[in-house]
Amino acid sequence: MDDLKQKYLSAIADASDEGALEELRLQAVGKKGEVSLKMRELGKMTPEERQTAGPALNALKDEINSALAAKKVALEDAALDARLREEWLDVTLPVRPQRQGSIHPVSQVWEECTTIFGDMGFAVAEGPQVETTWYNFDALNIPDHHPARAEMDTFYMHRAEGDERPQNVLRTHTSPVQIRSMQAQGAPIRTISPGRVYRADYDQTHTPMFHQVEGLAIDKDISMANLKWVLEEFFSAYFGTKVKTRFRASHFPFTEPSAEVDIQCSWENGTVKVGEGDGWLEVLGSGMVHPHVLKAGGVDPAEWQGFAFGMGIDRIAMLKYGIPDLRAFFDSDLRWLRHYGFASLQVPTLRGGI
Ligand code: PHE
Repeated sequence: MDDLKQKYLSAIADASDEGALEELRLQAVGKKGEVSLKMRELGKMTPEERQTAGPALNALKDEINSALAAKKVALEDAALDARLREEWLDVTLPVRPQRQGSIHPVSQVWEECTTIFGDMGFAVAEGPQVETTWYNFDALNIPDHHPARAEMDTFYMHRAEGDERPQNVLRTHTSPVQIRSMQAQGAPIRTISPGRVYRADYDQTHTPMFHQVEGLAIDKDISMANLKWVLEEFFSAYFGTKVKTRFRASHFPFTEPSAEVDIQCSWENGTVKVGEGDGWLEVLGSGMVHPHVLKAGGVDPAEWQGFAFGMGIDRIAMLKYGIPDLRAFFDSDLRWLRHYGFASLQVPTLRGGI
């Protein structure tokens, strides 16, 4: 009996993991274990023998069981210690750099435009980028063979062989949205239409895709004076400083009279500052909506009149953020954005100032 005790207690003490411990448990006190077999032999003993052997075997079984339990706890503790040592985290290590996105300047300026004009009561109206020639040209008083069609470097969409319908175009300006808005809402109307436009052109100040925001205000007595006020109010809010405008007589088929609008600026060492000095910079085309255009939109020119303008979003973004090459907007990777400090959307409003 003492041999058994010696054998198991030392084996338990030496067990290196819980699997080995379970093995020993089965060998010693499992159903067919050595101690259990010995207990079965009690039946064959004389009562006297049994009186000493019985309690001794029970004591041995208890002793082995508690040795097993104690070793199990010790092994678990050791395993936990080992894990804690292995899975140790250095919380003082610097974090891995995270890639951070930022808003594109064009998106930001788009947002600024809709906010500022929104404050003045203009709703946003959008139209398709693939447009019929009727909306892009005819309805805007640009008939077939009018030089303006050729001047716009239009992208034409293909038609299937034998399809005789007029080709669609990638809209060359946001002005077709004027017609769609008038058709949809009638007069009076105050809308702005920001969007992508397309012309086959590529250099420092032209990309084949760029962005315009169209403005349209139709009512009983809207005049060029209202146009001038709206634009000066817009530019002042947008640039965060009082900006004067200069109207130069011009020609667009869809407005009469027409004006190109310049904003006040100074040129110093090749950099432009808006809202000061005695220089001027052209930023948009505008005018009083031509009666033919009102008619095409289903609005009666005898009753209604109004102004329209079309402004380059990319262009005013370049001016505000000092970006010299338009192609930077569309060709480069994101690193240059960081250079210009584009992180979050800060939208100037008329009410709160900048
Ligand atoms: N659609 C003109 C352009 O793209 C701009 C414009 C819009 C001019 C509205 C007058 C009125 O150049």
